[in-house]
Amino acid sequence: MNLSELYADHVATLQGHTAALLERLGYAGMVIYSGTATGIFLDDHALPFYANPHFKHWLPLPRHQHGFLLIRPGKRPQLFYHSPVDFWHLSDGAPGGFWTDPFDIAEFADPVEVQSALGDTPGLAFVGEDAALAQRWGFTAINPEPLLHELNWLRGYKSGYELACLREASQLAVAGHRAAEQCFRDGGSEFDIHLAYLAASGQRENELPYGNIIAIDQHAAVLHYQHLDRRHPASPDAFLIDAGAEVRGYCADITRTYAARPGLFAELVAAMDEVQRRLVASASVGASFVELHQRTHQAVALLLQLFEIVDLAPESLVETGITRSFYPHGLGHLLGIQVHDVGGQVADPQGTPLPPPDEHPFLRLTRPLEAGMVLTVEPGLYFIDTLLAGLRHHPQAKAVNWERVEQLRPCGGIRIEDNLALHPDHTENLTRDAFANS
Ligand code: GLY
Ligand code: MN
Ligand code: MN
Repeated sequence: MNLSELYADHVATLQGHTAALLERLGYAGMVIYSGTATGIFLDDHALPFYANPHFKHWLPLPRHQHGFLLIRPGKRPQLFYHSPVDFWHLSDGAPGGFWTDPFDIAEFADPVEVQSALGDTPGLAFVGEDAALAQRWGFTAINPEPLLHELNWLRGYKSGYELACLREASQLAVAGHRAAEQCFRDGGSEFDIHLAYLAASGQRENELPYGNIIAIDQHAAVLHYQHLDRRHPASPDAFLIDAGAEVRGYCADITRTYAARPGLFAELVAAMDEVQRRLVASASVGASFVELHQRTHQAVALLLQLFEIVDLAPESLVETGITRSFYPHGLGHLLGIQVHDVGGQVADPQGTPLPPPDEHPFLRLTRPLEAGMVLTVEPGLYFIDTLLAGLRHHPQAKAVNWERVEQLRPCGGIRIEDNLALHPDHTENLTRDAFANS
């Protein structure tokens, strides 16, 4: 199927699920509002705009402001498409391209036109950020939680169209990753690497699904390091890059870690790569992600012992919580329209919470793995000063080989992150496929 066929299929499936859902919840329809850019306090500029994710689920218009989509059971979806009269900005242009067929499209300049076209709103649910607008227009069901839970649940299962977008996003991100590694090896600063990434992946900064994490040496010990050092490192040891791409609103979220030269850190990176590949091989339909996360702690414990970082049996390293000082985050999360996609910690479409175990509060995915899901697998091992300081007061602090820790601390840490699409009979590694094809 080509893209427009895949997309028509995607919209038809969404329409079917949503119609059933609206009827069950007693709504005549649902209006999804894309939103509008937030202004900066006391300024006449606005922050970059990112559309309501539920709008993006239906439409490949991730930057379209003031769009209204009306969904009603048994009727074609109706899009109110904003075509303002504006000589300050370039408007989005007339609606066109592969995506328009499934919709009845009405262009408007002033939202008042949409308000009168919608008419009586009490039977309609409103899904969007602007609750004040919804109230003014007479909506009484504004972002109703039962509806949002159901919509979030649906987003956990990707259509063929969504997978096509995610594959493209991976390919773009990998082009950026290749250029970034080269720039690092050529002596580039974090800032240089960031620019090389943007150029090679064909994205401007606002188009990234999240701020690039471009971390040389100890900066890699900051999990979401947000700066870009302009200085050129004299003799760097290591480079961690966590950077993605967005295609038609769908995200890639990829991390790679590189050692500058052969040696202990390079061996640790290679060992972690092995661990990551084994975890990926186990991340298939029916698996428990909570169990996989716990298994990651056992694997990290083995590495800590093998690399003589802590002299304790792996079981004790996990039991005493020492592994959490080196690997403090979760193994991964659902991925799609949002990088940390919704619906990872619920047991059912009604939104019954499925929280992670107490000792793993940062695990974002607790649902059993099912066909159609797309998720990340991203184990890590870091030398984080604040956590190491805490470890010094641990009853087993003497078992830590602090000299070895000091030797590795300048390298910051390791994370290796792939994006997986789960099929009934196999797991597709979007990331490694993209690297293999680049
Ligand atoms: N890039 C953020 C994450 O990996 O979850
Ligand atoms: Mn991630
Ligand atoms: Mn990431």
